[in-house]
Amino acid sequence: PVAVLQGRAHYYERGRPDEMRDAIRTLAGIGCETLLQTNAAGSLCLDMPPGSVMAITDHINFTGVNPLFGIGPGDGRFVDMVDAYDPALTQALLAAADAAGVTCHQGVYIWFSGPSFETPAEIRAARVLGADAVGMSTVPETILARHAGLKVVALSLMTNYAAGLVPGKLGHEQTLAVAKASASDVKRVLRAFLERYT
Ligand code: HPA
Repeated sequence: PVAVLQGRAHYYERGRPDEMRDAIRTLAGIGCETLLQTNAAGSLCLDMPPGSVMAITDHINFTGVNPLFGIGPGDGRFVDMVDAYDPALTQALLAAADAAGVTCHQGVYIWFSGPSFETPAEIRAARVLGADAVGMSTVPETILARHAGLKVVALSLMTNYAAGLVPGKLGHEQTLAVAKASASDVKRVLRAFLERYT
């Protein structure tokens, strides 16, 4: 059985990093074991152009906020984040992409708060820090899921090159257009992953 969330709420919507807390605790509560996440992201790598997919192997929380702010001492707030993106499930995701005939990159995702896009200087800094993709989601959900005892595996779709990587401006329209054009690739990977999931 698979429970599906139709989209997500973002930190930038109301300034609350724990916006997804109830949804994720509910998934854990009804018996889910794994949170499979998807997102749209900006690529920091020239060899990962718009339309590419990337399995997230680790993340950088660049926002300074955390969805576990305010959690009490008895509630396991010091969550271990080593292998937060489950290595075995990530390998399974890569194998699923292979089976689906979709090239799948691997890399580090950096969380910026949004909703404004990053500046070129911020993206240069993110590259120095070791990021491969940038986005405005996923990291708080991963932290909440690990706190709730769920395994996490995550797939990013590159909808654009991050700010300053190539000439030109960024816009939400491009995110939507590339997401639509690449939806069938993402669907095939997810289907192959779920068919193999044990
Ligand atoms: N930056 C942040 N979030 C994003 C981007 C980006 O370039 N593309 C899609 N989501």
